[in-house]
Amino acid sequence: AESAPFRLPRLAAVRVLLVCALTACGGGGGVDGTPGGTGVRDPYFPKAGNGGYDVAHYALDLSYTPGSRRLTGTATLTARATRDLSALSLDLKGLDVGRVTVDGREARWNRAGQELTVRPADDLGEGRTFRVTVRYSGVPETITDPDGSAEGWLPTADGALALGEPTGSMAWFPGNHHPSDKASYDISVTVPRGLRAVSNGEPRGETSARGRTTFRWRAAEPMASYAATVAIGDFAVRRTTTGEGLPVYVAVDPRQAAAARAVLARIPDVVEWAEDLFGPYPFSSTGAIVDRAGDAGYALETRDRPFFPGAPGPRLLVHELAHQWYGNSVTPRTWRDTWLNEGFATYAEWLWEEDHGGDTAQEIFDALYAAPGDRIWAFPPARPAGAAHLFDPPVYQRGAMVLHRIRQAVGDDAFRALLRGWAAEHRHGNADTGDFTAYVEKSAPGEDFGAIWEEWLYGEGRPKLP
Ligand code: ARG
Ligand code: ZN
Repeated sequence: AESAPFRLPRLAAVRVLLVCALTACGGGGGVDGTPGGTGVRDPYFPKAGNGGYDVAHYALDLSYTPGSRRLTGTATLTARATRDLSALSLDLKGLDVGRVTVDGREARWNRAGQELTVRPADDLGEGRTFRVTVRYSGVPETITDPDGSAEGWLPTADGALALGEPTGSMAWFPGNHHPSDKASYDISVTVPRGLRAVSNGEPRGETSARGRTTFRWRAAEPMASYAATVAIGDFAVRRTTTGEGLPVYVAVDPRQAAAARAVLARIPDVVEWAEDLFGPYPFSSTGAIVDRAGDAGYALETRDRPFFPGAPGPRLLVHELAHQWYGNSVTPRTWRDTWLNEGFATYAEWLWEEDHGGDTAQEIFDALYAAPGDRIWAFPPARPAGAAHLFDPPVYQRGAMVLHRIRQAVGDDAFRALLRGWAAEHRHGNADTGDFTAYVEKSAPGEDFGAIWEEWLYGEGRPKLP
């Protein structure tokens, strides 16, 4: 490349890192306000995301060869400057950057940790829409989350899986990797002929040339990068539809096909049941990916097509599909709001049990409340104890218990209206815990939720029951 990466003056770089380590890194940027900041003040992941711009669309052209584990990519981001920018930062972990252009012109760039800082030839004025293209390649890294889970680009026996919450996506494409910046995606993946590549959204065709096949997928509604996925392998991909005509794409590793067949056949039922409770399905297709995941030990609500590391039980299927409403459509504003995803998806499981001859939500609540041990009381759902605890029981079970306490307060009909209304109010957007409590209060005027918020949502320890 003719443009050598620029270097930040050492002292300035050290200071930025220090400030980032001590506080949340400001989206507000530097003293003169010209370079976009690194990080968007996430309370748990201060380096995640970047300030000064808003991505509208990602076009990712990827090519992967399982034998060498080499990924080659071109990422084109269409973004808008939210203030005057002399430089902007993207998140990318590992991989080699070859060339960066902004609006087709060569741009200088620099890398430090997970930040890829791009300096366009000309400043980008506030409000301006621009395109950044990054060419990159290499063997992607596996990222270990603070809680020890492996995510990113994970090799499998016959291909690879790209997925991860909260931070895996920066291992396979440069971007604004924070849930607050959602965008549409066009993802194309070229693989050796005979393999298939599945991603979010709907297929836009496949073409073969010189022993390789390209699969194109489009996710048109806004998506957080942690919900983006690519699954490459020897999949059988089946398309069916729900009773209402919503396409269902299911990709299953052939070795898991027999075990997964019956439960995946229930996807249309689950989606219709969920639509009845949560309102219209928020996206243009649904489905599932089932693959032996190498390192990935957990299921994830990857958009439209949740990932399962093996045939799921019906309850896990319900959980991941419920996330399409709560998580993928209504997305947390920061990682502190994770309970809005996990509490709702867990409560969806309780509702499913209740509606299908299992325990009622009240019985599940009572059993959890009475259970010995203090794992679910370790911290309040809305204030996780740290980045390593975002997916711990207080976020899931106690999060669901908060919803159950609201249901007890307002009654079944109002509670149903609330589930739907919350999904409708923030459809395809972002919301935080304050938005949620405000929404609940607005929808049940006259009701006092103070004790529920103080004790169940924000309070330490095991709350007393009234
Ligand atoms: N959101 C996933 C679920 O459906 C779990 C993600 C777990 N991630 C992690 N780093 N432990 O519950
Ligand atoms: Zn979940």
